[in-house]
Amino acid sequence: MNLPVLEDLGDLRHKRVLVRTDFNVPMSGPDDARVVTDDFRIRASLPTIEWLTERGATVVCASHLGRPKGTVVAKYSMSPVRARLADLAPGVELLENLRFTPDEEANDAKFVEHLISGIDAYVNDAFGAAHRAHASVVGPPKYLPSAAGRLIEHEVNVLEKLRTSPKRPYVAVLGGAKVSDKLGVIESLVKVVDRLVIGGGMCFTFLAALGHSIGDSLCEPEQIEHCKKLLRNNPSILLPEDIIGVDADGVYSTFGRRLPDGAKGMDIGPGSAAAFVDAIMDARTVFWNGPMGVFEDPRFAKGTRTVAQAMADTKAFTVVGGGDSAAALAQFELDDMVDHVSTGGGASLEYLELGDLPGLRALREAPNAK
Ligand code: 3PG
Repeated sequence: MNLPVLEDLGDLRHKRVLVRTDFNVPMSGPDDARVVTDDFRIRASLPTIEWLTERGATVVCASHLGRPKGTVVAKYSMSPVRARLADLAPGVELLENLRFTPDEEANDAKFVEHLISGIDAYVNDAFGAAHRAHASVVGPPKYLPSAAGRLIEHEVNVLEKLRTSPKRPYVAVLGGAKVSDKLGVIESLVKVVDRLVIGGGMCFTFLAALGHSIGDSLCEPEQIEHCKKLLRNNPSILLPEDIIGVDADGVYSTFGRRLPDGAKGMDIGPGSAAAFVDAIMDARTVFWNGPMGVFEDPRFAKGTRTVAQAMADTKAFTVVGGGDSAAALAQFELDDMVDHVSTGGGASLEYLELGDLPGLRALREAPNAK
């Protein structure tokens, strides 16, 4: 990817280095006493932070947390994250939530100036935010010697391998609620994968495109034509053959591909789960993004759990693309059983779709980049 890396920053003794991290971590508790419930993203940046501090740099981390929309919102304060970071990397500073000002998302030049004042070098280790052209992501590399952190380096290497040289058969499993969010990546994936498996809320727009009645299930009618075209041109797309849903009386049962009026699909059925497992077990490379159903409700978690277990069991090279699928994997305690869990949901999909991200482009244009 030709990114400048940590070694390209030169002598770091007595230098202040701004590290853009993605510490947008899950939290719980009352607004004024929140605690970090999963520090995966904090731990993921430790190799970069430690590399810098071991070379004599003073590290100043900066991150967004949640979507406070440019105002100060107590529940999105960085204090609980700062406390966790202090346990893991004592002495490392962490700025307040970057999104407490609208200038971050607006990529405001004055805000960039403020961020880099007194700073000697910039490192982007926020893979999960590298698809956002925000001030802290694309601004500092215009002015400072800059580098990709170890996390970004590793994420890009793994995803680039999927894009350009996956071991075959290569299977992608996509789920999640909205098909409109995924059509771009689906268009790219169908050109590379041997099989594209589609479950989750987004499968109903595809089932509707095949002419099936889908009851009250999630559907994006304006995407039906696009889905029809995708299905016509790509026999490699595998859709669920059965669905677990709730009928109009609130009773849940297993349906085929046709759901009666008033029924709402909530999970893939056992036949679909078995077919999806077969596809995963036959593959040598698997990418998974998006749950198969409403897995937060134990009645509708089976499809997602079955896919997660197959990801853990297969001998294939397995990559899980952040977001809800990473949360599901952690919920089922299978996160150590796959080859790579990406720290970026949106970022990993955008990288697979386009092969580049605004945050990476900015690093390549930094004054010290080759
Ligand atoms: C994420 O959680 O995917 C990243 O931190 C990006 O967050 P955002 O979608 O709010 O920009």
